[in-house]
This record gives sequence, C-alpha cells and structure tokens, in this order.
Amino acid sequence: MFSQITKPQNSKLLTYIIGATATFAVATTAYHYTSSKKTSFSIISNESPKVFIGDNKWIDLPLLKVEEQSHDTKLFTFKLPTDDSVTGLTLASAVLTKFFNEETGKNVIRPYTPVSDLNMEGSFQLIIKHYPGGPMTNHIFKLKPNDTLSFKGPIKKWDWVPNSFERITLLGAGTGITPLFQLARHIVENPNDNTKVDLIYGNKTPNDILLKHELDALHKKYPDKFNVSYFVDSKESNLDSDSKLHLGFISKEFLKTNIAKATEKTHVFVCGPPPFMKAFSGEKVSPKDQGELIGILKELGYTKEQVFKF
Ligand SMILES: Cc1cc2nc3c(=O)[nH]c(=O)nc-3n(C[C@H](O)[C@H](O)[C@H](O)COP(=O)(O)OP(=O)(O)OC[C@H]3O[C@@H](n4cnc5c(N)ncnc54)[C@H](O)[C@@H]3O)c2cc1C
Ligand SMILES: *[C@@H]1O[C@H](CO)[C@@H](O)[C@H](O)[C@H]1NC(C)=O
Ligand SMILES: *[C@@H]1O[C@H](CO)[C@@H](O)[C@H](O)[C@H]1NC(C)=O
Repeated sequence: MFSQITKPQNSKLLTYIIGATATFAVATTAYHYTSSKKTSFSIISNESPKVFIGDNKWIDLPLLKVEEQSHDTKLFTFKLPTDDSVTGLTLASAVLTKFFNEETGKNVIRPYTPVSDLNMEGSFQLIIKHYPGGPMTNHIFKLKPNDTLSFKGPIKKWDWVPNSFERITLLGAGTGITPLFQLARHIVENPNDNTKVDLIYGNKTPNDILLKHELDALHKKYPDKFNVSYFVDSKESNLDSDSKLHLGFISKEFLKTNIAKATEKTHVFVCGPPPFMKAFSGEKVSPKDQGELIGILKELGYTKEQVFKF
C-alpha cells in the first residue's frame, strides 16, 4: 500500500491520497487510537521532503557523479540535501541553474530538465550537451564531484493529467529529448495512465542518440503503450540490425503513417533546436507565447491547440 502512496505519478494525486488518508486516520482516532496512530505515523515518515517548492530560493547542491552519454553530452547526478529528499517536481517541469561568472561579473542562469524518476530520493539527474562557447555548459563541464551548483525551481512546462489524451506524439531532436523522456517514462510507467505514446527522435548519428538504452528498455517492457523510432542523418553499418533506426530526416510521410491523426483525443509535444522547431511546428515566441503553428505538423492537419512546444 505504501509503495503505491510514495510512488504515484502525479503529485496532486499524492496530496489527495495523503490528505484523504490522513483525514481518515484522524476520523478513526477516537475509535481505534492505537491502529490509527500507527497509520498516520507511517504516512508522515513516507512523505519525502521536497526541494524545489517554488519559494524563489536558490539552493547549492553538490555534484555526485558524471557519466558519458555521447561525445558532447554527459549525465550529471546532483545530491539532494537528505537521502530521502525528492525534487518535488511534477510532470512535466524543469529547474534553473545559476553561477557567478567572474569574467563578466554577471550571474549566468539556464534551465535544465531532470531525466531521473521524479520520485527518486537523495539525488536527481540532468543530461547536458556541451556548447564550447557556452558559459553555463563550460562551467558545468568543469565541475568535479562535491563541487556545488545553484538550483531553483520548479519551472512548470506542461501540467500532465493522466488519460487526458488517448494517444500522444513526442517529436524531438538532440537534447530536446529531456522533457520528452520525462513525459514518456512517467506516463508509460503509470499503471493508471492508458495514454499511448509514440516517440520520434532525430539525431546526427546513432552514437548521438541520448537515453537509447532507457528508451529501448521502456519499449521492450511496455510495447503496447510505448513505441520509439530513431532517425539519423548517417548510420554506421554495425547498427543496420536495429529496425527502429531510420536513415534520413524525420519525414512528413513517416509521420503521416506512424503517428496519431490530429483529433481532440491526441496531442503532439515538440522539443528540439531552432531549425528542427522551424521545420515541424515553428518556434516558440517566449515561455508564455507558443507562437503560431507552421511547418510539417500544420501540413498534417494539426492545429495550434493540439501541439505543445517545450
Ligand atoms: C526549458 C528548457 C529546458 C532545457 N533543458 C535542457 C536539458 O535538459 N539539457 C540541455 O543540454 N539543455 C537544456 N536546455 C538548454 C540550456 O538551458 C542552455 O541553453 C544550454 O545548455 C546552453 O547554455 P550555455 O550557457 O552553455 O550556452 P549559450 O551561450 O546559452 O548557448 C551556446 C550556443 O548554443 C546554442 N544553443 C543554446 N541552446 C540551444 C538549444 N536548446 N538548441 C540549439 N542550440 C542551442 C546557442 O544559440 C549558442 O550558439 C533547456 C532549455 C530550456 C529553455
Ligand atoms: C566528497 O565528499 C565526501 C563526503 O564529504 C567524501 O567522502 C568524498 O571522498 C568526496 N569526494 C571527492 C571526489 O572529493
Ligand atoms: C513502431 O514504429 C515502427 C516505425 O519505427 C513501426 O514500423 C511499427 O509498426 C510501430 N509499432 C507499433 C506497435 O505501433
């Protein structure tokens, strides 16, 4: 029972369940003092402290470890203040990082999207691509274990409600996978969410595909809920056997036959570098303004309301 309470996919649900159970515990206290006291204790000790609660405060968190993902991308694990802390992020959200740039005398602030399970305790993980001229990524790629980075959050991107659509399409390229992966894994792993998810993910070469192992495992475990198709500009011969790997750009024809048609029961989530956004959906104008829908998704009959640009 408690494993279900501590691992829901939606924090609103968590609050609701805890609230309802706590009320129940209080209501029954007068009659069954001993047992209800035990129940409420368990609830309290099972509620993990949340770190990113929108209090507008920066918190310094130490780097635990760094792992290779691709030639220019690494997986960074940061430690939360206590072993039972969780980020407290809801699906789908990001966090801000900050450091003081000595050269310019200014703070540098950038958003990143955790790829670790939102219920993970004690730490959380970011996948970050290194831009050689980029102030934040230069800084982060120089960090050593135990060095700290300032964080703040949450930045809520899309408030996912389970079963709000029958089938969704996640369309991404490069590090644009991070919010799409956050969505995909929490929807697919939630037994109470029946949404079918199709991920179409473009990269330069097979070696640039981020989280491939995790995505393949998710497809293998939930073949009826989750499908993934990779597109690469060039393909090495040793990867010819992967039937999910397609050569060339993601095409309109492929999307036409492989993703859900535009209806009120479907939705598309897009995330990628500017040229990718331009081709499929048009770029977002600002965090608050999604901009007009243009490009391939519009040509396929989708409307602005049926597409979300991360
Ligand atoms: C909500 C949100 C979530 C994000 N999540 C992640 C994440 O999980 N992992 C990650 O690696 N990045 C993510 N980013 C991008 C990240 O915030 C920084 O923009 C990026 O790390 C570059 O920062 P920088 O200071 O090193 O370089 P900058 O000086 O900001 O940029 C360096 C160069 O890279 C280009 N560039 C920057 N960002 C992008 C981009 N997204 N696509 C294409 N070109 C770009 C710039 O035009 C510039 O030429 C996210 C961005 C947003 C808005
Ligand atoms: C980081 O700090 C921990 C605890 O303070 C220590 O045990 C560990 O050796 C440190 N690691 C590095 C790489 O300095
Ligand atoms: C998964 O996607 C591939 C294309 O990459 C397609 O051929 C296949 O039919 C899809 N499977 C399901 C179950 O939709």
